[in-house]
Amino acid sequence: MSRLIIVSNRVAPISEGGPAAGGLAVGVYDALKETGGMWFGWSGDVLSSGQPQISVEERGPVTFATIGLVRRDYDQYYRGFSNATLWPAFHYRADLVQYDRHDFEGYCRVNTWLAQQLVPLLRPDDVIWVHDYHLIPFAKALRAAGVKNRIGFFLHIPFPASQVLLAVPPHRELVESLCSFDLLGFQTEPDLRSFCDYVVHEANGTIDAPVNGRPTTVHAFGRTLHAAAYPIGVYPDEIAELARAGESGKPVRTMRATLHSRKLIMSVDRLDYSKGLVERFRAFERLLEHSPAQRNKVSFVQIAPPTRADMHAYQDIRLQLEGESGRINGRFAELDWTPIRYIHRQYERQVLAALFRASHVGYVTPLRDGMNLVAKEYVSAQDPDDPGVLVLSRFAGAAQELNGALIVNPVDIDGMAEALATALAMPLVERQSRYREMMAQLRENNVSVWRDNFMRDLQAAGPVQRVRKRAGVSLAD
Ligand code: G6P
Repeated sequence: MSRLIIVSNRVAPISEGGPAAGGLAVGVYDALKETGGMWFGWSGDVLSSGQPQISVEERGPVTFATIGLVRRDYDQYYRGFSNATLWPAFHYRADLVQYDRHDFEGYCRVNTWLAQQLVPLLRPDDVIWVHDYHLIPFAKALRAAGVKNRIGFFLHIPFPASQVLLAVPPHRELVESLCSFDLLGFQTEPDLRSFCDYVVHEANGTIDAPVNGRPTTVHAFGRTLHAAAYPIGVYPDEIAELARAGESGKPVRTMRATLHSRKLIMSVDRLDYSKGLVERFRAFERLLEHSPAQRNKVSFVQIAPPTRADMHAYQDIRLQLEGESGRINGRFAELDWTPIRYIHRQYERQVLAALFRASHVGYVTPLRDGMNLVAKEYVSAQDPDDPGVLVLSRFAGAAQELNGALIVNPVDIDGMAEALATALAMPLVERQSRYREMMAQLRENNVSVWRDNFMRDLQAAGPVQRVRKRAGVSLAD
């Protein structure tokens, strides 16, 4: 069997049950620990001097190969083009897009350099699976280095509508680079449609209609490749077990004791402007404003660990959120009750799962999100006999699958406040039936199914086709 090589920017320092570090790290690790293989990417270190060296470490069935970045590469590739240009654009925040062509050059340069670091570690029958927006030019760079292996790509974040993607000046180079992969995976059908729309209307390419559930065939930039939606999943029963085991732990006992008999609304997100945190706080405020009976009867806990804290847009959202939580608490708090507990810290996965289980409402309302695994983890963690209710943004990829959630539009503050009130009052029978429907879906499309479907299609993606220029003629081999 071929060895699986995962390539992603972030290679989480994952110990079982360790801190959650974003959807990619959690999902990829869950997928890789079963099959074994190698995980290659950035170590998380930024070097102020010297030349980065690869470190290779075996941990169980997974070999971790990681390398540091020098400061200039970190600034241009990670903080610059990846997170100040691509991240906001792909999350439909064209207003926040910052572009510097030197950063784009740095992004391409780091992709080439990382690909060159990986080449000596590769075997001829390895299957390479590249993840996320930091590494869009990675297949092109591997091909330039002579690599002939199958190479797939999975985008964990949304793929924006063409008119939004056009806000990124090198949009054409990016989509051309994507077309160097053999298989492209998106979280949802709408993401796939946006990609196909760009190919047809902006790149003069063509799309063959998918046959019998097979991936779509794309012809563009002189290549033929495949593309499909593969919604990433979780292991719901493992999470349920984690939640059960964490229930008797100190963090949950303390939380229960301080809640008294109040109901609990829970949210966990990296502190990112794409997560809709300010709107979410305001909708909770609206609930308290319009329903005096809820005052002192419900607490909202928002855990928002720091992320990309050295970037202005993230410093701004932090200040804004601190202002909002202070203002709302000042308005409604009583001597024995703080309506919003906003916690800017990371917790272990088990603690989060147990807190989800102890809560009455999971409040997951991003403005845009590729999937949002917190939504899936929230449902998984519930007690089947007394499950909580998921309030979920229609703009999270998870909303395509989780029909048992109360679906909201995160800019509709009144609508979200109403959904919270509905969730808090929902009868047990309805909660159970919504939970069962969602659990069945999560079990059917767990993270192994995600991995296996992608790998099956990558293996079947046909002979590697690359364009060679010979005497002015393009040949596919
Ligand atoms: C999202 C992205 C991941 C990223 C994670 C954490 O989930 O899709 O690629 O790793 O956020 O962000 P960070 O910048 O800390 O890696």
